[in-house]
Amino acid sequence: MSKTILITGASSGIGRATAKLFAEKGWNVAATMRSPEEEKELKELPNLRLYTLDVTKKEHLKKILPEVEKDFSSIDVLFNNAGYGAVGAFEKSSEEQVLHQFQVNVFGVMDLTREFIPYFKKRGEGMIINTSSVVGRFTIPLYSLYCSSKWALEGFTEALQFELKQFNIKVKMIEPAAIKTDFHGRSLKVFENDAVKGYNKMEKNILSGMRKRNEKAPGPEVVAKTVFKAATDGSQKLRYPTGKGAGAVLFARKILPTSWFNKLVFKQQSR
Ligand SMILES: NC(=O)c1ccc[n+]([C@@H]2O[C@H](COP(=O)([O-])OP(=O)(O)OC[C@H]3O[C@@H](n4cnc5c(N)ncnc54)[C@H](OP(=O)(O)O)[C@@H]3O)[C@@H](O)[C@H]2O)c1
Repeated sequence: MSKTILITGASSGIGRATAKLFAEKGWNVAATMRSPEEEKELKELPNLRLYTLDVTKKEHLKKILPEVEKDFSSIDVLFNNAGYGAVGAFEKSSEEQVLHQFQVNVFGVMDLTREFIPYFKKRGEGMIINTSSVVGRFTIPLYSLYCSSKWALEGFTEALQFELKQFNIKVKMIEPAAIKTDFHGRSLKVFENDAVKGYNKMEKNILSGMRKRNEKAPGPEVVAKTVFKAATDGSQKLRYPTGKGAGAVLFARKILPTSWFNKLVFKQQSR
């Protein structure tokens, strides 16, 4: 019998590429998104169904598991992928922007995971794959909120792995480097606050540099392949760095003193 994966944020980028790859490999795919009525291409795939899910909405989070189970009879993998970047100088951010960043990137993941744990326990198996980032393990200027949301996700995922191993529930995370998606377009929410001064030069250099590098980055299919590997390799491996230079930068992070590593990051980001 075909296995089933539920994907959040399947409308674009990594989520969309993952939905297509798993469907191609013969999996059932529950492709969840905020506006499924706008989706044309994915719904043509035979073993894929679209569902409405905004990860900030409790009523959606409560309904989604029974809805998908009814259609596909079981769910094997939960892929928490939805996310966006709230970026800019922290001084410019509002409390609302901080909360929303964590609601989508962290609390949405926690809430959906909480729905799935009893279900996977009852089935005697299951897998949760969270989408972190290479910046879940280091930081970059102007990304303090985004980085801290991914650092939170790293801590959550790592600790959860200990708790759920006894129930045969595998917990993993994907750590992409720069990937060419909508992330640096519509998913990048830059703080605007003209009353706060002093960051113009930094914002101009770093944000435009980021966008340029992103244009040259590999597409989301690279990450989809890594998600497929994580879902099928049978291992207990926790972290899957993916994308150009992901392994190298995380290795440098491991072996270099933080001050050296951060000097290199700042130099590279300011280019
Ligand atoms: N691209 C990169 O360089 C990169 C690197 C490391 C990690 N990541 C991570 O990869 C994940 C996917 O990003 P991406 O690069 O594929 O960007 P993307 O193409 O912009 O996709 C982001 C997805 O998240 C969804 N989303 C945002 N808020 C949501 C909410 N409240 N509820 C449900 N879905 C929501 C978006 O849905 P809508 O279509 O409704 O807006 C969209 O499907 C994110 O977690 C991101 O942090 C990306």
